[in-house]
Amino acid sequence: MNIEKLTENKKEQALIAELLAAGQAHLFADWDAPGIHDDAKTAFLQSLVLINDSYPGGLTGYISNARKLLAAAQTGSNPFDGFVPHHPNTVDLTQFNESYDHYEALGAAHFEKTAVVLVAGGLGERLGYSGIKLDIPVEVTENTTYLAHYAACLRAMEARMATPHPVPLIIMVSEDTRAKTIASLEASRFFGLKKEQIHLLKQEPVPALADNEGHLALEKKYKLVLKPHGHGDVHMLLASSGLAAKLEKQGIGHLVFIQDTNGQVFNALPAALGVSVEQGYDFNSIAVNLLRATVSPAGDVPDAEGFSIFPGNINALVIKMNSYVRILERTQGIIAEFINPKYADATRTSFKSPTRLETMMQDLPGLFGPDEKVGVTIFDRRWSFSANKNNLKDAAAKHAAGGPPESGATAESDFYLAGRMKLAAAGMKIKTAGETLLRNIPFTPGPRVLLCPSFAMTLAEVRQKIKGGSISGEATLLLDGKNITLEKVAVAAGSALVIKAVDGAVVTVKNLTVKNDGFELVRLSDEEQNSSATPEYLRLRGYRIENRAAAVYEFTAPGEYIIQP
Ligand code: UTP
Repeated sequence: MNIEKLTENKKEQALIAELLAAGQAHLFADWDAPGIHDDAKTAFLQSLVLINDSYPGGLTGYISNARKLLAAAQTGSNPFDGFVPHHPNTVDLTQFNESYDHYEALGAAHFEKTAVVLVAGGLGERLGYSGIKLDIPVEVTENTTYLAHYAACLRAMEARMATPHPVPLIIMVSEDTRAKTIASLEASRFFGLKKEQIHLLKQEPVPALADNEGHLALEKKYKLVLKPHGHGDVHMLLASSGLAAKLEKQGIGHLVFIQDTNGQVFNALPAALGVSVEQGYDFNSIAVNLLRATVSPAGDVPDAEGFSIFPGNINALVIKMNSYVRILERTQGIIAEFINPKYADATRTSFKSPTRLETMMQDLPGLFGPDEKVGVTIFDRRWSFSANKNNLKDAAAKHAAGGPPESGATAESDFYLAGRMKLAAAGMKIKTAGETLLRNIPFTPGPRVLLCPSFAMTLAEVRQKIKGGSISGEATLLLDGKNITLEKVAVAAGSALVIKAVDGAVVTVKNLTVKNDGFELVRLSDEEQNSSATPEYLRLRGYRIENRAAAVYEFTAPGEYIIQP
């Protein structure tokens, strides 16, 4: 093949030569004569160069990695053959006890050396939302989106530092999510964060493979089939961008990794951070107990209490910065890739559709040596994890099958549950409304408690600010502001109390009994459910929440305020 005839660009010529040597002649076969489809040819070559530059080891490195994994998959060999599973170092924080408080206090004192990494490049195909998942409200009392909630958590971390300074936020996006993520950040003026503290890293897709020989698949002439490489890309990008090393130099001691739709994660993070600091974990995986009331994976067996003997990772990680940077230098952050081809038949010779290499961020310890300390911190499942991953229909089917629905409704229900757990830990009396089914998905309608990050980031803070009182049934309590205190406040069933106060406003609510028409949870009618006039974020949960007559107090100026009968 005469490469010079395909392109005049020297870089492209060199890449074509490499690809030909790697058995990829089919990519350049049957090319039209010069002058015909030249734009498509140029775009094709540019896409090859882009992928070649973004994957450590380039396209030929990718092909050679793929061939090894494809050969292993074809023989059905287990990549973990010969390994013996061990129990990791474990700290159990499923109960709110002294140990929990101890680790939370340690973690909170470490906020000033922490950066947050949010992986948000996923398509969310299971949910089927037309926008980015970060823009979906985690609750529809106030319509706080996931991104707004995470930003509020960062601002609250900053407000709790001895010398407040910005918590770096690294967001991994992909071509599918980048533009909308930027639009959302800009439209909200970065949710009160500083533009400079936000770092976007963009992951590139990888080419799919057509067969066991590792031929790159073509969608049509001059166009590769491209697919996401998985959230494990975040390590590679933190390495190649130099950002991890830069943050280390700036004094960051730990990175916490979170995903796009887990509104619960910051409940557990302070304590998990404390565990990392005290236990010296290089890698701390926030985990939940698996198996009880869910389906047992083959080969796993429940213990006496019905839990798996191995904890389940929820993709919330705390990683120690200096060991991380060392590992990134050694490995460029390419973490254990795997392949999961769907074969056409038992001969394993052809695929149903092109496959690709994938990576998962939690597989980082695969790069660790014997000196690195890997551990897990176990939390109550719904306190630490309740993601919004599934559309209504699939979520209902998952519930029917006995599994967690992981839907918009359950994520919101659990968001309020976490608020109730905090109030209960502070000694408030809580009478919970009975669970109901909303479009066949379980939902606890109240009390709907929103203790904003500004109000409290730890249980200790909630205890300082809430003294006694009670709340029951479908009541709503929303507290947004650092200096709000409730003493013996009772919120009656169905009623609502909303207090928002700027930082300098010190608000004390005393001996108040709140009785009003509050907020009402309204189920969407079938017509509303099926109408494009109903916002998509409501249709994905099947209800809306309407303000009937909530008591709302807003304090926009510093000062001392007392609310009492
Ligand atoms: P999910 O398991 O939710 O996957 O990813 P997904 O791709 O977003 O959704 P489905 O499978 O298509 O329904 C967990 C986290 O990893 C991020 C997601 O954005 C989410 O925060 N992710 C996933 C990436 O950042 N990049 C990827 O290539 C895949």
